[in-house]
Amino acid sequence: MIAIIGGSGLDRLSALQKVREHRVGSRYGTPSGAIIEGLLAGAPVLFLPRHGEGHSIPPHRINYRANIAALRDHGVEEIFAVTAVGGIAKTAGPGRIVIPDQIIDYTAGREHTFYDGIDGNLDHVEFGEPYTPATRQRLIAAANAVPLEVVTEGVYGATQGPRLETAAEIARLARDGCTLVGMTGMPEAALAREAGLRYANCALVVNWAAGIGGDPISLAEIEQQLASGMRKVVRLLSAAVQL
Ligand code: HPA
Repeated sequence: MIAIIGGSGLDRLSALQKVREHRVGSRYGTPSGAIIEGLLAGAPVLFLPRHGEGHSIPPHRINYRANIAALRDHGVEEIFAVTAVGGIAKTAGPGRIVIPDQIIDYTAGREHTFYDGIDGNLDHVEFGEPYTPATRQRLIAAANAVPLEVVTEGVYGATQGPRLETAAEIARLARDGCTLVGMTGMPEAALAREAGLRYANCALVVNWAAGIGGDPISLAEIEQQLASGMRKVVRLLSAAVQL
């Protein structure tokens, strides 16, 4: 089974023909919202809004473990994670869709592992390629099929939020090699790996990161980019679930 985790701008997936809703718990607590089971372009998928149905959960308070555990418990094997991001690299301007291939994690204080030793389990997962190559390729192939232009690699810098970054912080991320910045990419990707799920990120750039575009970041512009960009993302996902 495939799951889509929706981010900012995709709290509801209106293209999904709903079959039923699952209000479930997990041993790690309650997921962000009901898991919606339905058909996207005829293909069975599960949908979970990362920030909750009414977009009420900030990035640092999302129960990433409950979300991933609940999806796994529902038979999910592969996740397309949608995120809204700021663009750092010249190639990652507002409106672009990027399928990143790497992550740098700057988050702190989040419950970030299933292997915290509490239940006697301890493991160290391999994470050199944080996104599953075949799942990334599926998103890229779907973009080619639509067709939609996508940037086929990128380094996702995961920041703590909920505030946006300072210009100096973004300059540091750029020096580190980040091409994108967002607040929800981690620990979600690592938990998916720990849970044995295939996982890739479909990142929509909604603003230039702080200090990159010259002007202060406009929240109104972000809203506008989310509205137009997520329509493209849904077309991409609709193609990806058919492949
Ligand atoms: N920084 C962090 N997260 C974001 C941004 C940003 O500029 N835009 C959208 N999510």
